[in-house]
Amino acid sequence: MFPLYKLLFSIISDIVLGRFCLPSRWYWSGDKMCGIIPPSVQAKWYQSLSILSKLCGRRLSDLPHQKGFLELFIKIRGPNFPPSPQKLPKSPLSRRPMREELYSPLTNPLTDFSESATRCTSLKGTGTLNTCLRTWGVTPALSVECAHVMAMAVQKIYPDAKVTIGPWIENGFYYDFDMEPLTDKELKKIKKEMDRIISQNLPLIREEVSRDEAEKRITAINEPYKMEILESIKEEPITIYHIGNQWWDLCAGPHVESTGSINRKAVELESVAGAYWRGDTNRPMLQRIYGTAWENEEQLKAYLHFKEEAKRRDHRRIGQDLDLFSIQDEAGGGLVFWHPKGAIVRHIIEDTWKNIHLQRGYDLLYTPHVAKGDLWKISGHLDFYKENMFDQMEIEDELYQLRPMNCPYHILVYKRKLHSYRDFPIRVAELGTVYRYELSGSLHGLFRVRGFTQDDAHIFCLDDQIKDEIRGVLDLTEEILLQFGFDKYEVNLSTRPEKSVGDDDIWDKATAALKDALNDKGWSYQIDDGGGAFYGPKIDLKIEDALGRKWQCSTIQVDFNLPQRFDITYVDSNQEKKRPIMIHRAVLGSLERFFGVLIEHYAGDFPLWLSPIQARLLPVTDTQLEYCNELNKRLKADGIRAEVCSGERLPKLIRTSEKLKIPLMAVVGPKEVETQTVTVRSRFGGELGTMAIDDFISRTKYAIQNRTFF
Ligand SMILES: *[C@@H]1O[C@H](CO)[C@@H](O)[C@H](O)[C@H]1NC(C)=O
Ligand SMILES: *[C@@H]1O[C@H](CO)[C@@H](O)[C@H](O)[C@H]1NC(C)=O
Ligand SMILES: [Zn+2]
Repeated sequence: MFPLYKLLFSIISDIVLGRFCLPSRWYWSGDKMCGIIPPSVQAKWYQSLSILSKLCGRRLSDLPHQKGFLELFIKIRGPNFPPSPQKLPKSPLSRRPMREELYSPLTNPLTDFSESATRCTSLKGTGTLNTCLRTWGVTPALSVECAHVMAMAVQKIYPDAKVTIGPWIENGFYYDFDMEPLTDKELKKIKKEMDRIISQNLPLIREEVSRDEAEKRITAINEPYKMEILESIKEEPITIYHIGNQWWDLCAGPHVESTGSINRKAVELESVAGAYWRGDTNRPMLQRIYGTAWENEEQLKAYLHFKEEAKRRDHRRIGQDLDLFSIQDEAGGGLVFWHPKGAIVRHIIEDTWKNIHLQRGYDLLYTPHVAKGDLWKISGHLDFYKENMFDQMEIEDELYQLRPMNCPYHILVYKRKLHSYRDFPIRVAELGTVYRYELSGSLHGLFRVRGFTQDDAHIFCLDDQIKDEIRGVLDLTEEILLQFGFDKYEVNLSTRPEKSVGDDDIWDKATAALKDALNDKGWSYQIDDGGGAFYGPKIDLKIEDALGRKWQCSTIQVDFNLPQRFDITYVDSNQEKKRPIMIHRAVLGSLERFFGVLIEHYAGDFPLWLSPIQARLLPVTDTQLEYCNELNKRLKADGIRAEVCSGERLPKLIRTSEKLKIPLMAVVGPKEVETQTVTVRSRFGGELGTMAIDDFISRTKYAIQNRTFF
C-alpha cells in the first residue's frame, strides 16, 4: 500500500498547497469536502492513475479509479483537513463498487454540487450537471430516479405499456416504452402522475436477487424487454430498485432516498419521440420520453431559459430570417450558398483576416480545388483519409481528386524552388476551399457541411524557430478572435500518441517549444497526454460564446510527416540538405462554421462594423424619397452600407428594420429635409435625436472603423 498512499497524499497536498489553482471550485458541504475537479487536477490525477495502474499491474481501464478517488475526498472531514497520511481511507481503490450512500453528499442533495458544477460547465447559467458528474464517474441519482418515477407513472396510466431502458443523459434522462404513440398532451398527464408519486414520498429500496429470482419476477409481470436486459447483465447478484412496494426495475443505482427527495417543481417532461428498440429499424418502434430534473426551480428555469435561448440563436433560423445563407436540395446537402447579406459579412471577415496576416508576415496563396490522385497518394490521404474524401473523377485517362485539405498544395508551392536556411520562416496563408465527405445524416446547418473554406496557413521553419512561430500564431489568433468578440478560450496541448512518426528528439523539442510559447503567452492550458496527431504535437483552442458554449476553432499542429513524404528540404549554413519543420494552423477553422458560431454568438445582432446593412434611411412620406436616395449615395461613397426603405408607413418601416436587426435607422421627414438633418434610432443606443448629416456620417464612420457602438 505504501506507494499508493504516497501518490494519493501527494495529490491532496498539491491541492492543499494550492499548486492547482481554482480553489473556488472546492467547497464544504456540512463537514465534507466536495468539488469539481479542475481540468488541471484531472490531468494530474490521470497521470497518477497511470502510475498506479502500473504499480498494481492492472490496466487503467480496470481500475474503478474515479469512484475510489471520490470516496477519498468525501470522507475527508473538515476540521481535520488536511489529513495526515495515516488518516486517509484504507482502500480507496477497492475493486468493489462504492456504496451509494457514499455518493450522497454529491448527488443528494445536489444543491451545492450543482451550483459548483455550473461554474465548470460549458453552459453558463445552468450547468450541464450530468456532464460534470460524468467526469467524476458518478451517476446522477436524481436523473436516474426521475426516469424510474416516470416509468412507474406511465405504467399506472397505461398498464399495457412495456418498459425498456431509461438512462440518464446530459441535462436529464429518457425512458423508452413499447406503447401507443404519445403526444405532448399526454406528457402533462404523466407528469401529474409523477407529481403524485413524488408527493407520496415512497422509499427507494435496493434489493439484490439471484438471476433465477430476477427471471421469475420478470416473467410474472410479463416484461419481455426487461428479460432481454437481464440477459445482457453479466454480473450477479442482480440489483433491483423498488419504489415503495408498488413498482420495481432492474437498476444498478444509485438512487435518492425516497421519491420525496425529488422536487416536483424542478422536473419537467420535455418531449416525446419515436426510437427503435436497440436502435434497430427491424425491431419495434418505441416511445421515448425525454425529461429534465434539477435540484430546485431556479435551476430548472435557468436550464429552460438556456434551451430557449439556444433555440432563439439557432443559426439556421437566423440565417433564413436575415437572408444570410441557404443550403439547397437542388444543389445537395452540406453545400452552402452565401446570399448577399451573408457574403458581405464573409467578405469583411476575409478582409480583416487577410490584412492581419499581411501585417504579420504571411504571404497569400490561391491554389486549385482539384489535383491528380497521385498527389494524394504521396501525401498519404488516399491511404489514411479516404473515407472523408469524395470519389475521384477521370479526366483524359487520369484520375483527379477534389481536395479535402490544402496542405499538399502549399508544399508544392514551397517546392517550386530551392530554399536556404536564410529564407525561414516562410508563412503562406490561403482561404482554401476543401470538400469532405460527410454522411448526409450528420450534416447540420453551417456546422457540418461537405464543402467549406478553411482559413489555412502553413509555416515552414527551423527547429529553433518553432517557439517564436507558435508564439506569433497565438498572438495572431488572439488578435483575430478579439475582433469578433471572443475573449474566453479553452486551450489544450496534445502530446505524442503511442502510434506516431518522428524521432523522440524532435518530438521533445517541438512539444517543449509549444509549451514555452503557451507559457510565454500566459495562457492556461490543459495537457492532453498522448492526444497529439500521429505526425506531431498540437495546440487546440475553443472559444466561448455569449451563451457559454464552447466551440472548437483554432488549431496549431506541428508536422513531421508531410515534409518527409514530399521530401522537402533546405540548404543549411554548411551547404547540407536538411528537412524543415512544417506547422499547419487555422484560426477560425472554417468560414462556414465560424459564421454559424458568429451568428449564434450575436444572435444575429451583428455589431455595426460587421452588420450586412449598417443603416437604413426611412422617408416619412414619398416626398422625402429623393432626399433619402441622395443621402444614400453619400453614405455609400463613405463606405457605409446603407439602403433606403420606403413605400410603407413609418411605424411599419421601423418594425421591419428592427426585425432585420439593422443597427441604425435614419428617419427623414419634411423638417429633416429642410434642415439637412436626420433623426437617428440606434439598435443599441435607442433614440438619439436629430443630427446634421455630416455628424451622422462621421459618427457612423468612427463607430465602424473603431468597432464601437454608434
Ligand atoms: C481538451 O481535452 C479535454 C479532454 O480530452 C476535452 O474534453 C476538451 O474538449 C479539449 N479541449 C480542447 C480545446 O480541445
Ligand atoms: C477611430 O478612433 C481614433 C482614436 O479615437 C480616431 O482618431 C479616428 O479618427 C477614428 N476613426 C474614424 C474613422 O473616425
Ligand atoms: Zn495543413
